[in-house]
Amino acid sequence: MAGKFITFEGGEGTGKSTQLKLLASWLREKGIDCLESKEPGGTEVGQEIRRLLVCGDKDKMDPVAEALLYYADRRIHLTKKIWPALEKGQWLLSDRYADSTTAYQFYGYNRKVQRETLNSLYKLVAGDFKPDLTILLDIDPVIGLKRSFTKAGTMSDKETRFETRGLEFHNLMRGGFLEMAKAEPERFIVLNADKSIEALHNEITGIMAERFNIP
Ligand code: TMP
Repeated sequence: MAGKFITFEGGEGTGKSTQLKLLASWLREKGIDCLESKEPGGTEVGQEIRRLLVCGDKDKMDPVAEALLYYADRRIHLTKKIWPALEKGQWLLSDRYADSTTAYQFYGYNRKVQRETLNSLYKLVAGDFKPDLTILLDIDPVIGLKRSFTKAGTMSDKETRFETRGLEFHNLMRGGFLEMAKAEPERFIVLNADKSIEALHNEITGIMAERFNIP
């Protein structure tokens, strides 16, 4: 596949979506054709799955049911959008991908889903396919959740199922992301997200330029 698959990961309120948009514009300025996407909800069917996952009561389903729905969304995203784009030579930037499932459903819930189960689901859904680069935006959940709730207050659909989990959940999830990044240093880049939008964007473009030889 000729295109590149770049994922943004991190907890709530890290600024992933903003940074993804800015990076997409920068790549287009460099003449690279790229698509912006997200999980859950990168496809039409995915939008329906997203609503089931992120709206409503936090206890309406357990981590096993969540993992299955996130992986269903992922399979549709891969087959309908990610792989076709990469085959055409486009780059695809995704706001979250499989590391989010491991961070939230495994680490966040303190291992209530087996890691091996998630690994098997990954194999079933994606085979050996992996992101070319994963940008992990790291922030203290106390700061991230504050940012996220400010944003949610202005949203009509109240996608707050995960934000309403306690600080312990978010700290476990953050630790999980950092552990995963440590285990795969060639795929992950970890950046401190507690800085200005512009400073973080400059950091990201510097890394992209170097990693992918973009002049
Ligand atoms: P978003 O608000 O960043 O778009 O993500 C939606 C929510 O879904 C967010 O709270 C994180 C959560 N999530 C999981 O719990 N597992 C996953 O696999 C993914 C992709 C997201």
